[in-house]
Amino acid sequence: MRVVVESKKEAIKRTALILQKFLKKKPNAVLGLATGKTMIPLYKELASLGRKGKIDFSKAETFNLDEYANKKTFHNYMNSNFFNKINVSREKIHFPSANGKNYEHEIKKSGGIDLCFLGIGTNGHIAFNEPGSSFASITRKVITSDKKSAYTMGIKTIMNSKKIMLLAFGKEKADAVAKAVKGKISEEIPASILRKHRDATFILDKSAAGKL
Ligand code: GLP
Repeated sequence: MRVVVESKKEAIKRTALILQKFLKKKPNAVLGLATGKTMIPLYKELASLGRKGKIDFSKAETFNLDEYANKKTFHNYMNSNFFNKINVSREKIHFPSANGKNYEHEIKKSGGIDLCFLGIGTNGHIAFNEPGSSFASITRKVITSDKKSAYTMGIKTIMNSKKIMLLAFGKEKADAVAKAVKGKISEEIPASILRKHRDATFILDKSAAGKL
């Protein structure tokens, strides 16, 4: 696992550039997409590249990491922050739902996730895999730490991605980042498993890296 520390602005630019190059090489790439406030500037930068004709999502396939059960919270977030602003093809957008096995099947059918973007929760969660989630978990229904039911890709699903980029900014993420990067690899800190991935990068600003 690699750790990159730079300003948030640089981090966003670098990440967007990586995806731009990635899609040039493989226009039909399969992307794992996160929500949360961390991702908003990245989606903004990607949408801006799109407007300038510098990035093409028309053949890409997307799989969101998670969604609240019986709600469209993350659908709405993705539409307003990203999908409505790029040339993604609607039938290539996927969200997890009650049938977790079906989501796994759809991911497999697409050829597997090439590049997965992640955020991290202050308790070390990735997607809605809260502390205590099995490293062998797949897409399923869960109860989040704030007691809401949701669907999430499992940790195994995420680990099966060929490339992973986790973004974390701000001092409120410093503890979780430190535990994930140098603590014990444990189901109590879901993001710690990323150290076992062969192509995972943590992209951090100075504050998020403050306890490393
Ligand atoms: C949320 C989402 C995660 C996200 C994380 C961090 O609960 N389920 O996918 O990565 O928490 O969110 P934020 O970027 O707003 O800090």
